Amino acid sequence: MIFYKLSDDLREEIKHLRASGKRIGFVPTMGALHQGHISLIQASALACDVTVCSIFVNPSQFNNAEDLKHYPRTLANDLELLAGFKNILVYAPDEVNDVYKTDENFAVELGNIGLVMEAAFRPGHFNGVMNVVKRLFDIVTPDMAFFGQKDFQQCLVIKKLINHYLLPVELKICPIAREEDGLAMSSRNVRLSPAERAIAPAIFKALMHAKEQVNLLTPDEVKNRILNELKSYRQLVPEYVEISETENLLPVESWNDARNIVACITVKLGAVRLIDNIILK
Ligand code: PAF
Repeated sequence: MIFYKLSDDLREEIKHLRASGKRIGFVPTMGALHQGHISLIQASALACDVTVCSIFVNPSQFNNAEDLKHYPRTLANDLELLAGFKNILVYAPDEVNDVYKTDENFAVELGNIGLVMEAAFRPGHFNGVMNVVKRLFDIVTPDMAFFGQKDFQQCLVIKKLINHYLLPVELKICPIAREEDGLAMSSRNVRLSPAERAIAPAIFKALMHAKEQVNLLTPDEVKNRILNELKSYRQLVPEYVEISETENLLPVESWNDARNIVACITVKLGAVRLIDNIILK
């Protein structure tokens, strides 16, 4: 593992790697690494010669100052976790300006994807994500970039970004890593109290129950079932449950409306916002 604080130094190293024909995989993260991130790094290590992992809590994607303030920062632990990997370059800048060297805006038009779910509940969030990911792509120039399906809408945003700028990077969407009880792994999980942590698996359970009801109930009925199941826990406060086409996140009225359909959930559990999803068909 080689650790870089400065993007110019990383660019220099990547120039050499490219010159010797190495394929570069990229795993962008905001740190507080867990097994979900590690699974992305493993996928990259299998497909590429060298993996770059960035650790950067990107201020521009937080629409809530409290969330940014409380976002876990565990760089020493993260580096320890990555120390065992061969052929990995870690980029963890100290300064926001090392990533944001200009104030150019790289946000692209997202259509419906930019209007619903996370985009509606976290105004400006995806503009921040696009601005940081485009800058990181420009620094790393990866052949492949690995993102987790947990952030389903984010994956669609990245796809749009890549297509818009005709970036020569292959987007790999990797399966959601889950705890044994089904809770989707997230850096935010450490902020759950023991009581909240005990309730949190109900989110994935509701999604699994939804999958069992496909073609038996209408999408709207399934959505209401999920909402009722979640609301049976006083502490779980759903922000949204949507059953949508996977391509564009348009809501479906019937199971025949689209070839592929996803159920996406966001709930508040105490002060923590948790998201999850499941492909229904
Ligand atoms: O998914 C995340 O952790 C972040 O949104 C990302 C892609 C690292 C950009 O800051």
